Order: sequence, then C-alpha cells, then structure tokens
Amino acid sequence: MQRIAILASGTGSNARNIIEHFAEFDDIEVKLIVSNNPDAGVLKVAHDFGIASHIVTADNFKNSDEFINHLKKIKINFVILAGFLWKVPENLVKMYKGKMLNLHPALLPKFGGKGMYGHHVHEAVHEAQEKETGITIHLVSKDYDEGNIYFQVRTGVKEDDTPESIEKKVRELEHAYFPDVIEKFIRENSK
Ligand code: GRF
Repeated sequence: MQRIAILASGTGSNARNIIEHFAEFDDIEVKLIVSNNPDAGVLKVAHDFGIASHIVTADNFKNSDEFINHLKKIKINFVILAGFLWKVPENLVKMYKGKMLNLHPALLPKFGGKGMYGHHVHEAVHEAQEKETGITIHLVSKDYDEGNIYFQVRTGVKEDDTPESIEKKVRELEHAYFPDVIEKFIRENSK
C-alpha cells in the first residue's frame, strides 16, 4: 500500500479531487490531511471522507522532528502539497526527497517564489499580459517553487481575461491533471 499525506492551507478543492480519484484504489490511499490553518476548508474535506487530519504549528512543523516522526509512524510514503503556504523545512525535504510534489498555479520558473500563491499569481500573469498560463507540478526542494519540474500543462490567456477568469482556467487544469500526475509519479517512484 502506498500512503499519501496531503498538505493544504485553503479550500482543499484539489485535496478533495485527489481523495476521490484514489477512493477505489486498493494499492494507493490518502491517509492524512495536514493543514497549518485550523479553519481551512480542507479539514472539512478530510472529515467528510473520514480521513485523519493533523494541524501543524510553526513549532512542531518548522522547529522539530515531531511532524516527520508522526509521518514515519503512520508509514506515509508520499507527500503532496496542494496549496500549502509554508516553506517545507529541510528535515521534511530530506526525508521525502524524490517523494514530494507541489502544485503551482503558473508556468514555473515564471511567477513563482515567495508570495506567489493563489490570486497573487493570476494577478501577476494578468499584469504581465501573458499569452498563456498553466500549472506546474514539481519536486519539492528547500526553496519555494524551485524543485525539478515533473509536469506542466498550458492554456491560452486572452486579452479580455481577468485574474478571476485566469484562475478559473488554471483551476480546471489542476482538477483535470493533478490526480493522474500523482498516480503516475507514485507508480514510477514506489519500489
Ligand atoms: C491551487 O491554486 C494550487 O495551485 C495552489 O493553491 C491552490 C489550492 O487550491 N498551490 P485548493 O485549496 O486546492 O482549492
């Protein structure tokens, strides 16, 4: 059994999508939902699907091995970041080297890095009058959005697009591709 922990700080629409994708699998399961935000919608998603959830604080996430020891105890094999806003500490990056993916709502290396999350990304794409945008799924390294790119898919941006309409297009790509990309990644990286 390959066990996944999903880290998310927000609504959790991607987490829900991933959970639904693997719901019928007998060899891959979403075992844990982790958030740094006790009010995050993703925790309700976890509850709705009867999946364990875990709240991390700056102390136990950034400054101690408590969190990674918990992941070890429940035998998590892969970590998926789906809208998780904190930088991943080095102990976690090291422990899940080659086994941790992040979803970024733009075509890295453009529009990435500190502060580039959620609406800010789509505003920047709009501001820059880009002709296209998309999603990037990448390995997680110790710096924001800098790991090796694993998957990208693009969509056109029209002149009359707004940050909101761009976000909608990107969200559709996320929901269409992320679960399948995770499945492919797990198959390629499990013994
Ligand atoms: C998505 O836009 C994702 O690309 C980014 O954070 C957002 C998460 O949205 N990393 P949701 O919480 O899954 O709805």
